[in-house]
Amino acid sequence: MQLKKDIIIAIDGHASCGKSTLAKKIAKELCYSYIDTGAMYRAATLYALDNNFVKNNILDKNLLVQNLDKINISFKYDTELEKSITILNNKNVEEEIRSMRVSEQASPVATIAQVREKLVDLQQKMGANKKITMDGRDIGTVVFPQADIKIFLTASADVRAKRRYKELTEKGQNVDYNDIFNNVVTRDKIDSTREESPLKQAQDAILIDNSNLSVDETYIVVASIIAQRFGNGVKF
Ligand code: DC
Repeated sequence: MQLKKDIIIAIDGHASCGKSTLAKKIAKELCYSYIDTGAMYRAATLYALDNNFVKNNILDKNLLVQNLDKINISFKYDTELEKSITILNNKNVEEEIRSMRVSEQASPVATIAQVREKLVDLQQKMGANKKITMDGRDIGTVVFPQADIKIFLTASADVRAKRRYKELTEKGQNVDYNDIFNNVVTRDKIDSTREESPLKQAQDAILIDNSNLSVDETYIVVASIIAQRFGNGVKF
C-alpha cells in the first residue's frame, strides 16, 4: 500500500490482544519501522530481575531508578528471522522477555515515572522521522499525541488469555491457563489504574474489539482505515 504522506500509526490497547501482530503486519505492508514498546518495558524488567531488584516478588523501585543509566535498550532487525530483536545491554533478550517471570513484573516496572520518562524519550526519537508503527499503552496519549492514526485494540480477557496460552504452549513453555488469565487481568488493572500515563483510549482513537475477529480480519479493518484516510487510491 502506498500512502500520500509519511505517517505515525499508534496502536494501544489491553494486554495480549494482538497489538504487536497487527502493528508488525501493517509495518511490513507499508515498509515502515515497527516498535514494540512493551518489549522495552519488559527488557527493563528483565534487568531488574537479573540484578535481584525483585525480592519475595516485590520490586525495589528505588534500586531500579538508581540503575536506570546502566540499562541500554535497542532493536536489531534479524534478516534471517525477518523480525526485530530486542537487545538489552548488547544481549539478545527477545525470547527471555516473553517469559512468565518477566510478564509478572512488567506492569509494576511500567508504573515508575523515571522508567517511563527514559523509554518515552527513546520512543519519540525512534519515531522522529515518521514512517513508524508503534504499539503499547500510551502511544496515542503520551508518546505521539499527534499520531496520524490511533487504534485502541481490545478483546475479552478470556479470549486474550486463550490466545496467549496457545502462543506460549506452541513455543514449548509449560504454562497454566489460569495463571495466564490472572496475569492478563492483573496487568490490565495495574496498567489502567496507575498514576503515570495510565492505559486509556485517546479521544481520537478508533476502538476495535477483536474478540470475534481473526488476525487477518483485524488487519483488514485497520488497513482499510489507513487506505481510506491516507491511501493514494491503489488497492492494497
Ligand atoms: O505489551 P506488553 O504486554 O509486552 O507490555 C508489557 C508491560 O509494559 C505491560 O504490563 C504494560 C507496559 N507497557 C506500558 O506501560 N506502556 C507501553 N507503551 C507499553 C507497555
